[in-house]
Amino acid sequence: MEAHAISAPPPHRPPAVLQAGQRVIDRCDALGTAPYSDSGDGLFRAWLTPAHRAAQQAIAGWMEEAGMAVRMDAASNLVGRYEGSRPDAPALLIGSHIDSVRDAGRYDGPLGVMLGIECVAALHRATRRLPFAIEVIAFGDEEGSRFPASMFTSRALAGTLDAATLDGVVDGDGIPVAAALAAWGLDAALIGAAARDPAAVIGYLEAHIEQGPVLEAEGLPLGIVTGIAAQLRFNVSVDGRAGHAGTCPMPLRHDALAAAAACVLAVEAAAREAGGDLVATVGRMQVLPGATNVIPGRVEFSLDVRAGRDDLRDAGAGEILRRFRRIAGERGVEIAAEPVQDLGASPCDPALTKLLEQAVAAQGIAPRRLLSGAGHDAMVMTALCPTAMLFVRCEGGISHNPAEHVEAEDASVAVAAMLGFVERLGTTMTAGTETSIVGAGG
Ligand code: GLV
Ligand code: MN
Ligand code: MN
Repeated sequence: MEAHAISAPPPHRPPAVLQAGQRVIDRCDALGTAPYSDSGDGLFRAWLTPAHRAAQQAIAGWMEEAGMAVRMDAASNLVGRYEGSRPDAPALLIGSHIDSVRDAGRYDGPLGVMLGIECVAALHRATRRLPFAIEVIAFGDEEGSRFPASMFTSRALAGTLDAATLDGVVDGDGIPVAAALAAWGLDAALIGAAARDPAAVIGYLEAHIEQGPVLEAEGLPLGIVTGIAAQLRFNVSVDGRAGHAGTCPMPLRHDALAAAAACVLAVEAAAREAGGDLVATVGRMQVLPGATNVIPGRVEFSLDVRAGRDDLRDAGAGEILRRFRRIAGERGVEIAAEPVQDLGASPCDPALTKLLEQAVAAQGIAPRRLLSGAGHDAMVMTALCPTAMLFVRCEGGISHNPAEHVEAEDASVAVAAMLGFVERLGTTMTAGTETSIVGAGG
């Protein structure tokens, strides 16, 4: 491993912290295969599936071992609570998601949950109570791998999900969200009951793999997130005319797939030409009727557009939709783009970010600030409370790929920094008379 960029001498890390990092990695790895995957071939854990249920059961056991009282809320979030020094103290929420993309890596999501559990386990071992409770939360659908929109479970908890938003949202098999929730034992009409009282929450901390190459390139195990890029997602449909692949001459065709291909290239060109941090992706496509000897009559595809600022994202999406209209006119097809997700850019809270930065620096690591291009539950949690995010280095910057890898040593440093963060937060809430358990420069 490369040397860390040092801002202060690295503190001594107690063996318990080193073991905690190894346990984080081992647990993420354990969740990477059946029964915690819905796919026999690689990892795919979608929301409200048997793999999700199995993962929740394993994680609930780990939360209990770490000294937490565990429950599942009305939106299917798994919540472990470690009480503070007085009953019913407001809580610091530490969370991330446990769903995955198809053919996923093992750390995108679960890493943050396992790190939260290890923070609580360390406090519990030391019989340390803070002036606030800590709740570790395993969210269900950050990826949107099953339904076209994502973060329903964190939105419910943040109090920004209206049950009506779920109406008409179906998965690839046509199963509505409400039916999936019912099969899980939950009532979609009551999902709002997961909303937390803002007065009972002091903040939200999410640790996540960076999913990019910057930390590795700079020899840093951790980074501090300043904010998360804005996202827009669309379901796009192209309607042409199905026909016989052998008899319909080329000039007379209205091939929906050829038009969709032009759209994909237009998406790429528009984003490249815009420059800056605008990115746009077509990641899913379905061709109908999908036969070798039939000219495609209909194509459906996803469109995901992101930028650090809402106005730049909107301008990029506007240009892409203009290009779609031109392609529709040129090819005699109909193109419709239905918006399915709009998440504004979300800055992290400056005060919590500063505490996190101090906690990272206390680990002997130069505090590197980064914008997150990837979406995270933290972006919806800003509606509920101040948020902070910690990035953990991942090998080669690779993510959404089975090759995703995080070093146990980096996870240990993350646990130590997170403990330093909670101790600092405690100090800001009291006169700071209690002894720190961190022993790690915290
Ligand atoms: C989640 O990984 C996202 O950024 O879409
Ligand atoms: Mn993630
Ligand atoms: Mn992801």
